[in-house]
Amino acid sequence: MSENDDTRRGSSAGRCVVLAGSTGTIGRAVSDCLAADGYDVVRLVRQGSKGSGSLPGREVVVDLADREALEAAFKAARPNAVISCIASRSGEPKDAWAVDHDANVNLLRASEGSGVDHFVLLSAICVQKPKLAFQHAKLAFEAKLVASPIDHTIVRPTAFFKSLSGQIGNVRRGKPFMVFGNGELTRCKPISDRDCARYIVDCLNSPERRGQVLPIGGPGPAITMHEQGALLFDLLGKEPRYRSVPVGMFSVAAAIFGLAERWSDWAAEKAEYARIGRYYATESMLVWDEKAAEYSAEATPECGSDTLRDHYAQLLSLTP
Ligand SMILES: NC(=O)c1ccc[n+]([C@@H]2O[C@H](COP(=O)([O-])OP(=O)(O)OC[C@H]3O[C@@H](n4cnc5c(N)ncnc54)[C@H](OP(=O)(O)O)[C@@H]3O)[C@@H](O)[C@H]2O)c1
Repeated sequence: MSENDDTRRGSSAGRCVVLAGSTGTIGRAVSDCLAADGYDVVRLVRQGSKGSGSLPGREVVVDLADREALEAAFKAARPNAVISCIASRSGEPKDAWAVDHDANVNLLRASEGSGVDHFVLLSAICVQKPKLAFQHAKLAFEAKLVASPIDHTIVRPTAFFKSLSGQIGNVRRGKPFMVFGNGELTRCKPISDRDCARYIVDCLNSPERRGQVLPIGGPGPAITMHEQGALLFDLLGKEPRYRSVPVGMFSVAAAIFGLAERWSDWAAEKAEYARIGRYYATESMLVWDEKAAEYSAEATPECGSDTLRDHYAQLLSLTP
């Protein structure tokens, strides 16, 4: 055990953390980190949530929309801190407001009534340039959290490894790597689940991070889609092959579905998905430099040590 581990275990002694979203990608890694550090972890999960049985800590099944039930859960747990990793799984506007905003507000109100002194929120770097419903919902909650008497830390990571791993199977089967435009339109500093979770859990123990909104990336450097493909082809020992997807197709789809979105939830959902596609095809997941009016890799802090290359190599070794 390292000196860091000892220090972490020392400061977690007797402290209870309520974790919401423990069944998600980052929430799972946060559960593991909290348990490794010795926190008393109470995980709030919704009815029917899958795969939570193997996670460490005590599990409480509760509907985050039910304020009374939530308050009762907090009174029973008497937590010192809260970490929220919840997020709408679809990004569809109604669900985004119900989860990224309303459910988080309910968590905050329950925290305010039960002696919690620190609320750590997993947000996203993309809220700095909000154009999508889920980004507006997250920002609206961030504002309420900042206004709350409880200390806050808002963590806004860049892209997770999972978001850059969807093409591994196709490339392995000999298909080209799909890029938007020329593959150089966007850049990000991808971060692993483990590094992101470690950063989040260390916030509990870092007084200098209280009251802060913290964009974070992985160890860097910032990479383009084209470079993501190059990594994969290199690991597979294959000649790189790319296929360009025009970004305009998202704008066309958003415009067509947008015509009917006022009258049809189905069309509104499709229009939003097209906007989400266009956003990620054209906006970098790096800190936006307002003065220079451009994304800045230099201004995007790096943390952790896991690399996308190692992640790809591991996935390739697992899939035949
Ligand atoms: N993907 C990226 O590259 C990226 C990059 C930066 C930041 N982010 C942000 O990071 C956050 C977490 O991402 P993630 O990938 O870990 O999320 P995820 O895997 O989709 O997990 C979402 C979590 O929220 C819970 N949840 C959703 N709806 C709920 C509801 N109605 N009631 C209670 N719980 C609910 C889910 O529970 P169930 O298991 O029961 O569904 C799950 O635990 C998001 O805010 C996302 O915007 C993502």
